[in-house]
Order: sequence, then structure tokens, then C-alpha cells
Amino acid sequence: MIKTAVFISGRGSNFTVLHENMKNGVIKGAEVCAVFSNNPAAAGLEYAEKEGLPVIVIPSGGRKDREAYDAEILEAIAPYKPDLICLAGYMRVVTSVLVSAFKNRIMNIHPALLPAFPGLNAQKQALEYGVRFSGCTVHFVDTGVDSGPVILQAVVPVLPSDTEEALSARILKEEHRLYSEAVGLFAAGSLKVNGRRVEISE
Ligand code: GRF
Repeated sequence: MIKTAVFISGRGSNFTVLHENMKNGVIKGAEVCAVFSNNPAAAGLEYAEKEGLPVIVIPSGGRKDREAYDAEILEAIAPYKPDLICLAGYMRVVTSVLVSAFKNRIMNIHPALLPAFPGLNAQKQALEYGVRFSGCTVHFVDTGVDSGPVILQAVVPVLPSDTEEALSARILKEEHRLYSEAVGLFAAGSLKVNGRRVEISE
């Protein structure tokens, strides 16, 4: 059973789905060992508490030294011995402090087909650019913004009538499915990083 620390900043729907899918066996061999938030008001924390999961909050407001902040996180999560960190709507770029301590063991979900539309408001970027398809990407995290090796991607159409909300909802549905699949693959030991490419074995 691998232990997963989930990092959130807000709503936490990806976190909720991951945890539910670990409980109901859709994701095999993984459990949530701790939930971390940089935002004390993150809505997802309510669910974490209701589920009796260990919650760690370190407010990031005003924290300019990002390495020192990440070192604090490392120390705070260490007692829970995570094998994997899942960023799930975590709105801070992680530094080499976390990335080197968890080499190829931090995943993120991004609501676009990377390398297109990294950063904030990816769905709005896609809509404004006029692409016909967008989607989501689960990737390993490096020190860049949404730039690490791609694990899985899912495609959705962009419809002429789409608003940002409509497109975001269509993508979110895929995010929930895709992130669970990626964590399941990790838990099964099926992911191997080879340079920029992630090899998936049975
Ligand atoms: C998702 O769209 C995710 O791709 C992005 O932030 C959003 C978080 O949503 N990184 P939630 O907090 O998981 O509901």
C-alpha cells in the first residue's frame, strides 16, 4: 500500500475523487496519508476532516522564501512517510527542496494539453486561443511551471458555444478519471521516467 500526501489550495474535487477511489478500490494499492494546504480556507479541508484524514496547514501568505517554506512542508509531512505527493489544485510552484526530496514522486494535474497553456486559467487560455480540442494532463513535477514529464493526457472537444465554465466542467470530469488512473499506475509500479518520457508497463 503506497502512502499519498495530497496538496490542495481550494475546492479539492480532485483530492476528493482520489480519496473516494482509493476507498472503493478503483485505485488499488494506495491510500491518503495526509492532506496539506497552503490555504487555511481551502474548501477541500472540510472533506479531509470529515474523513478523519490528517490535515496540515501552513499558510503561505507573505512567505517570500519559497525554499524555506518547502523545507517546512517536508518536515511537516515526514511523519506520515508519503511515497507520493499529489498536487491537486495546489496553487504554488514547488521548489527544488521538494522536487529533489521526491524525485519523480510528485504528480500534478493540469487542465490543458501540455505543453499548451501552462500556468493559470488554462481553460480560458484555450478558449481565447481558439483551439478545437483541449483536455488535461497528469505529469510528474519538476521545478518549472507545469513542465515535467507527461504521464497521461485526455482530450475533450472545445465547442463553439463553450463558456469558460462549460469547458472547465467538461475537462474536470476527465481530470477526475485521469488522475485516478495515473495514481493507480504509480501504485502498481508501472511508471518509469526515461528523460522526458514516461514509460508505462503492464
Ligand atoms: C483543477 O482544474 C486542476 O487541474 C487545477 O486546479 C483545479 C483544481 O480543482 N490544477 P480541484 O481543487 O481539484 O477541484
